[in-house]
Amino acid sequence: MTVDKNPFTPGFGQVPPFLAGRSYVVDNVVDAFDNGPGDPNLTAIFTGARGTGKTTLLTLLADEGRERGWVTSRVSAVPGMLEDILQQAVRSAEKLQGKRSGIRLTSVDVGPVSATWEYKDAAAIQAAPNWRTRLETLLDELEDKGLGLIISVDELQAGFPEMVELASTYQHLVGERRRVCLLMAGLPYQVSRVLNDKSISFLRRASRYHLGRIDDADIRTALAETVAKGGRCIESDALDEAVDAIGGFPFLMQLVGYRMWTQTEGDVIDITAARRGVERAREEMRANILEVTYQELSKGDLAFVDAMLQDDGPSRVSDIRERMGKSTGYVAQYRRRLLEEGVIGERGRGVVDFELPGWRELAREKHEG
Ligand SMILES: Nc1ncnc2c1ncn2[C@@H]1O[C@H](COP(=O)(O)OP(=O)(O)O)[C@@H](O)[C@H]1O
Ligand SMILES: [Mg+2]
Repeated sequence: MTVDKNPFTPGFGQVPPFLAGRSYVVDNVVDAFDNGPGDPNLTAIFTGARGTGKTTLLTLLADEGRERGWVTSRVSAVPGMLEDILQQAVRSAEKLQGKRSGIRLTSVDVGPVSATWEYKDAAAIQAAPNWRTRLETLLDELEDKGLGLIISVDELQAGFPEMVELASTYQHLVGERRRVCLLMAGLPYQVSRVLNDKSISFLRRASRYHLGRIDDADIRTALAETVAKGGRCIESDALDEAVDAIGGFPFLMQLVGYRMWTQTEGDVIDITAARRGVERAREEMRANILEVTYQELSKGDLAFVDAMLQDDGPSRVSDIRERMGKSTGYVAQYRRRLLEEGVIGERGRGVVDFELPGWRELAREKHEG
């Protein structure tokens, strides 16, 4: 029986005790919190396939921001987002207020955003200024206390009117050198579609970070540190086995770690536990990531994927073109789409391979079945 608490975090958006890789992204944005208005990393977009750690990064950066005097507002791109931004900001400010003395949001009139807000009568509500004014009032109040505002928008999607309003307001605020920060995250193809929208072209200037595979060496270190934090250790061959199976994919690191842990009875994770853990983790990875991603592919995407299955490793785009019997332009279009979906990655000039661990096996089964 295991008594130690499992230190792995195999749930979406759960910040792990040790982050593998990604330190350059975290450093750049955290530096921007310290530098304040004018730093290009105060407006940033994170893209990556499902399970690459976008939400985790937003959570972690919000935590870092709060320690540096920024109030945080975390929302998803769904209807009601603008209202939610104000509510969250007020709540976050109130929490910070509890921690630091001297911070009180006394006179902010941000409209119908908080249950603790006082409303005298309907006339007052009707007279409530528009969203931008309410946000600016809030920012004035925060600025008086030396605080900034981080707005983080997860699950970015195209064709969402509230995002247009947020972007245009934000552009003004940046122009006025307000202490504001906008961090966004989404699936690569959604983000490309968002950025194609002319009405929010300002966001094209955002710092962009694609969250791809993490180096094996970083996975190895984070895995070993997480195990140690939980009060156990892992044998070197077990660690090799795990790192190999993880393939640089953050979600799989947590799944493999979690399962290896539960397969272990004593204090030492050995190769047997590692193999069993990997097997279970693969099944979960398949259900949670691979199947969902596969369902989202179009017919053209699938034809491209099928053409890659003849190879056991990386494929040359010229071979794919021949197998598909389509024009260069047609093939290039699906190559780009699959790159954006995070299904394939480039391996040098004119060479691509599957990016998601276990994808080839899944695609072969689907192709045959
Ligand atoms: N850099 C990282 N190192 C280790 N584990 C990570 C890292 N980033 C994310 N994770 C883990 O990966 C899983 C997926 O993260 P999540 O942020 O939900 O991905 P996304 O939002 O891109 O779908 C979670 O279990 C999380 O704990
Ligand atoms: Mg997410």
